[in-house]
Amino acid sequence: MGDALNKHEASHTARFVANGIYWLSQQSRFACEVPEDLGRYTDAMTCRLELDRATLGKALARRLLLMKSRLLQAASVPGIYLHQLLRKRYIESVARGALGSDVRQVVVIGAGFDTLSLRLSADMPGYSVIEIDHPATQRVKKEVLEDFSLPQGCVRLVSVDLSQVRLADTLSGLEAYDPRLPTLFIMEGVTMYLDESRVRELLDCIASQASGSRFLFTYMEESAPGRYDFRNARAATRWWLAFRNERFTWGVSRSELPEFLAQSGFRLLDHRTPEDLRCELLTESNRNTVLAQGENTALVSL
Ligand SMILES: C[S@@+](CC[C@H](N)C(=O)[O-])C[C@H]1O[C@@H](n2cnc3c(N)ncnc32)[C@H](O)[C@@H]1O
Repeated sequence: MGDALNKHEASHTARFVANGIYWLSQQSRFACEVPEDLGRYTDAMTCRLELDRATLGKALARRLLLMKSRLLQAASVPGIYLHQLLRKRYIESVARGALGSDVRQVVVIGAGFDTLSLRLSADMPGYSVIEIDHPATQRVKKEVLEDFSLPQGCVRLVSVDLSQVRLADTLSGLEAYDPRLPTLFIMEGVTMYLDESRVRELLDCIASQASGSRFLFTYMEESAPGRYDFRNARAATRWWLAFRNERFTWGVSRSELPEFLAQSGFRLLDHRTPEDLRCELLTESNRNTVLAQGENTALVSL
């Protein structure tokens, strides 16, 4: 996975996403868009991640975090938090649907501080749920989970730098992973940090897993050759991502996606743009809100 992040620090964008969901849940206008369970788990995650560690009083730290989150959104990509919330809601509905049918196992790659796997594992104890993430990010998540206030099932946390170790080698060395089971692989907010050869390697690896396996991932839509930004991003966003060593390195246009997937034997089962999700998921009163544009979600299978 390229040099997606500083090798020693937890991903800043993973924190940004978790804090963004927390921010939405605390806004009277947007709280209704955050499902109760997601809100509760994000609240617990954020408290342990950001507030419990603050040297200031918790109430002051919370106000500062909310203020920082508001400013970061305004300075980076207007509507980014709502977009991330909608992609999470869609991903969760697909994951629960898949587990309710033939899929027996879930592998979340680059999970960051997302709580989906904790909730799935707690709600559906019969399924195997695995998270693979960079050691620097997962070290912090493990610390958070040591003293987490909500049920977390038995998610297996696997620390791997995927820029050094191939996914196929990671899976084959995992006792918790059963290669005979149809598996849902989830990769949310990660492919944009890879180069094309890594994306291809991941697709080829997932294509060789048990029959019935699926891959659910987000990708940046390439708007012009070599351009994979959010369409309404402020200029400062690119500098910030570059400064954090988390710049976007891959995307594909919507028209080229089916052919790109077909080269690894995949076909598109389902696809959502932020505009699709706006219509499907947002309540009437928020339908006209600004939403970040440029990152889509695809569900594929062989
Ligand atoms: C933008 S965050 C997305 C977090 C989460 N999926 C979400 O959407 O809330 C990107 C994630 O990819 C992980 N990642 C980046 N480079 C990686 C690498 N080389 N190996 C493993 N994970 C990596 C980061 O640690 C981080 O958790």
